[in-house]
Amino acid sequence: MLNTAHRREITLRFLAEPSEVNFGGKVHGGTVMKWIDQAGYTCAAAWSGKYCVTVYVGGIRFIHPIHIGHLVEVRARVIYTGRSSMHIAVDVMAGDPKQSEQTKSTHCIIVFVAVDENGKPDSVPNWQPESEEDLTLQAYAQKLMSLRNSIEEEMHRYLPE
Ligand SMILES: CC(C)(COP(=O)(O)OP(=O)(O)OC[C@H]1O[C@@H](n2cnc3c(N)ncnc32)[C@H](O)[C@@H]1OP(=O)(O)O)[C@@H](O)C(=O)NCCC(=O)NCCS
Repeated sequence: MLNTAHRREITLRFLAEPSEVNFGGKVHGGTVMKWIDQAGYTCAAAWSGKYCVTVYVGGIRFIHPIHIGHLVEVRARVIYTGRSSMHIAVDVMAGDPKQSEQTKSTHCIIVFVAVDENGKPDSVPNWQPESEEDLTLQAYAQKLMSLRNSIEEEMHRYLPE
């Protein structure tokens, strides 16, 4: 039987329900963001075996709308780990369940931190890339980290401490 701790990847699968509709008749963007957070949390908790909190959500690009009644797959993978943080790549695929084809609706990187019972950052198992694709994804996470530092420097000019 698969041990849930240290599992690197998870996929949530479900149908987009009518309760999730926006004013244009498609799935609400906020709903997709909730799915991303849920898949990311599940992946981070499964990898670390600990309770985790979202510390950062990268730019979310909505590429294609999701239709009500379509089959949605939210795939979350660990692509980088620090001491307490896990960088998770999330891809949202959707398509008509009557057909096999699915299109990528959304992609983003979300960062979770494992926390202890006092809400303080706690260590996580180290993830090591095993394939060429893993190495590319790890480099992607590292590149985004350095870009994020520049963005945050810029944002601090406008945010009160
Ligand atoms: C997550 C939290 C515990 C981190 O506390 P902190 O005092 O900032 O801790 P640290 O500075 O030691 O950083 C902890 C980790 O978060 C990472 N981190 C901090 N800010 C980050 C950011 N903007 N982007 C990505 N990672 C970040 C650090 O790099 C560090 O990772 P590492 O241990 O792998 O090196 C704290 O910020 C918190 O509780 N935030 C609210 C979380 C929450 O409630 N989320 C739900 C949505 S509201």
